[in-house]
Amino acid sequence: MLVGKRILLIISGGIAAYKSLDLIRRLRESGAAVRCVLTPAGARFVTPLSVAALSGEKVYTDLFSLTDESEMGHIRLSREADLVVVAPASADIIAKMATGLADDLATTALLATDKPVMIAPAMNHLMWRHPATRQNLATLEGRGILRVGPGEGDLACGETGPGRMAESLEILAAIKTFFRDNSPLKGKRALVTSGPTHEAIDPVRYITNRSSGKQGHAVAAALARLGAETILVTGPTHEPDPPGVKVMRIVSAEDMLAACRTVLPVDVAVCAAAVNDWRVVEPAEQKLKKAGGKPPTLKFAENPDILQSLSNAGDMRSRLVIGFAAETEDIIENAAAKRLKKGCDWIVANDVSPGTGTFGGDKNTVHLVVDGKVESWPTMTKKEVAERLAARISAYLAGAQ
Ligand code: C5P
Repeated sequence: MLVGKRILLIISGGIAAYKSLDLIRRLRESGAAVRCVLTPAGARFVTPLSVAALSGEKVYTDLFSLTDESEMGHIRLSREADLVVVAPASADIIAKMATGLADDLATTALLATDKPVMIAPAMNHLMWRHPATRQNLATLEGRGILRVGPGEGDLACGETGPGRMAESLEILAAIKTFFRDNSPLKGKRALVTSGPTHEAIDPVRYITNRSSGKQGHAVAAALARLGAETILVTGPTHEPDPPGVKVMRIVSAEDMLAACRTVLPVDVAVCAAAVNDWRVVEPAEQKLKKAGGKPPTLKFAENPDILQSLSNAGDMRSRLVIGFAAETEDIIENAAAKRLKKGCDWIVANDVSPGTGTFGGDKNTVHLVVDGKVESWPTMTKKEVAERLAARISAYLAGAQ
């Protein structure tokens, strides 16, 4: 149910932090990826080692850590999540969130995030009832922050009353409900092509290109996270299968088209594969041998254009067909012309000229061409491009544009 979902779990100081260890385990059992931030007070209750072992990821603790910041950066940390959960949320972190204080990694990430936030408060009952806390909670509620618990009962301080952090299973249930209610592409089917194709010369040799599949795989992951039933038809890549996505592996352009056809109809098709334009006619059945200084002559035939064929699929045409245009010059003009030629609805144009590092790299600078209008996006990671594109697709299919 939480397959592919990314949770940023912030553990602040409180005896209830031990329950968060169980929460990590349960979230992972449900298929979520959990990245954790420990506040300095949180790290006095549970150790970074336990949190790292349970989450299977590096734990982030220090805003001023050079290594952490160069690896991830607090801004990315706060945005590369689908939901930020603060558990336990102490009176202190709630007050900081309400006033917008950012004096450590956790509070900085909370201020920098553009993702929904859920808190699981835990504190003494008098702290919970204090007018300052009441006011802070009202402020957070007004901002749409979600809350689970606290419950009533015996508190760690020996007193009784409201302030017990919700049990890990209750928090898990609240997280599942959140994702159930926030899957805008639920009920929609998406097809994504990704990676290069291999065109055989003989049984051991082939022609290909430098596509890594990173962008296409990220688009499939982002669509699945928004709840779409996503099918990824991919050529050979080193990218891991995106969670929650049905992956169909193919080798050649002709295989890719055949696989795509079996998937139709879909609501949206995104062609991010770098399909080879040509294939070798009748590849040799046996390995070609050197023959006295006479290199072989290869005869080429043009491959089918998958994007064009999906754009002109008649009754089977998706409501939205999106192509990518990797260009090295006159990017926007060429992309706009390509959109008209292929008959797709949107084109994502990107600069792959030498020196941009786009092919194989993690970043991309794209222009989205919609109905002849061009939107230039700032340079982002391929994952961010994918998320923004998935959000646009979701808005389009919901009829918002
Ligand atoms: O013509 P060009 O290869 O630059 O067009 C790029 C777009 O067309 C991409 O979306 C790519 O996935 C798609 N394409 C395709 N089949 C081909 C060639 C390109 O789907 N044979």
